[in-house]
Amino acid sequence: MRKLLVTGGAGFIGSNFVHHVVAHTDLSVTVLDLLTYAGNRASLAGLPEDRVELVVGDIADAGLVDDLVAAHDAVVHFAAESHNDNSLHDPSPFVRTNLIGTFTILEAARRHGTRLHHVSTDEVYGDLELDDPQRFTEQTPYNPSSPYSSTKAGSDLLVRAWVRSFGLEATISNCSNNYGPRQHVEKFIPRQVTNVLDGVRPRLYGAGQNVRDWIHADDHSAAVLTILERGRAGETYLIGADGEKNNREVVETILTVMGRPADDYDLVKDRPGHDLRYAIDSTKLRTELGWAPRFTDFATGLADTIEWYRANEAWWRPQKSAAEAKYAELGH
Ligand SMILES: NC(=O)c1ccc[n+]([C@@H]2O[C@H](COP(=O)([O-])OP(=O)(O)OC[C@H]3O[C@@H](n4cnc5c(N)ncnc54)[C@H](O)[C@@H]3O)[C@@H](O)[C@H]2O)c1
Repeated sequence: MRKLLVTGGAGFIGSNFVHHVVAHTDLSVTVLDLLTYAGNRASLAGLPEDRVELVVGDIADAGLVDDLVAAHDAVVHFAAESHNDNSLHDPSPFVRTNLIGTFTILEAARRHGTRLHHVSTDEVYGDLELDDPQRFTEQTPYNPSSPYSSTKAGSDLLVRAWVRSFGLEATISNCSNNYGPRQHVEKFIPRQVTNVLDGVRPRLYGAGQNVRDWIHADDHSAAVLTILERGRAGETYLIGADGEKNNREVVETILTVMGRPADDYDLVKDRPGHDLRYAIDSTKLRTELGWAPRFTDFATGLADTIEWYRANEAWWRPQKSAAEAKYAELGH
């Protein structure tokens, strides 16, 4: 394998993955990214031009996708509409990109016999009760809640069908919530961090009891590369770092790391269908492929992330007021 096609490589996790691949392999990378509001050319800054190329285009553009897939040895598919709140406001781009876009990638991979890794989320499993001792495994039935998670679930099922019906050499990963540098300011942790930097009190949905299983994006990237290199075709791997925290704990850690009183935040009305708890059991990935997370202390990973947002205001500032205007429209 010499040439990778990475869809959505100008987004949060996709760009982290491209940086990871450049640092840890000899592969060259073509990024296919539409540069929607969530994509940022600056997230690929500093990468060597002789190893990384950006093609601005749509994963639902069959001609473009076919040409690119034909010219690469493998595809890692990150591109998606990824924000739950936006999916409640307007589901149509989610159906188009997450379902039609994935279908377009699958058809090209089928035509050219190309290895594919499909990146997905633990949100396809729905949620768990706060006091449920269970965690999600590869056997957990799909039970998505929102237009975002249902279109991701649909894309996973398309990949499974292409494996089964056409013998496509594909793997799937479902990962828990990511944090780290270059995440759009509409997302929970960057929103809170940049609000605190701007002197605005953070706001939490409901009572802040919802639990997410946090993983640093670098650990997610390392897991995806491991699956691409050593995963068994047709298999699904869950990726998680045992990082369960409720939203109150996250905000209180952010405030403490940033030198503010831990209770300096407000609670706001919950959004409809807000999932209670996600938790991943990543035993299969750890035992079968030998992956383990590097960031095991959440406060340390968070402190690094906060430092990145402090040092890179020019990256996030242009998006901040539009993101806050969207939240104001939704009443959050
Ligand atoms: N963020 C998380 O916590 C998380 C957790 C698990 C899985 N995932 C999955 O990882 C992937 C990446 O998530 P992210 O948080 O980096 O998302 P993101 O929104 O930051 O990035 C998505 C990227 O896809 C691009 N894109 C959108 N529509 C496109 C289209 N039609 N054609 C080409 N490019 C298009 C955007 O421009 C953007 O660069 C998604 O598939 C998501 O479901 C995310």
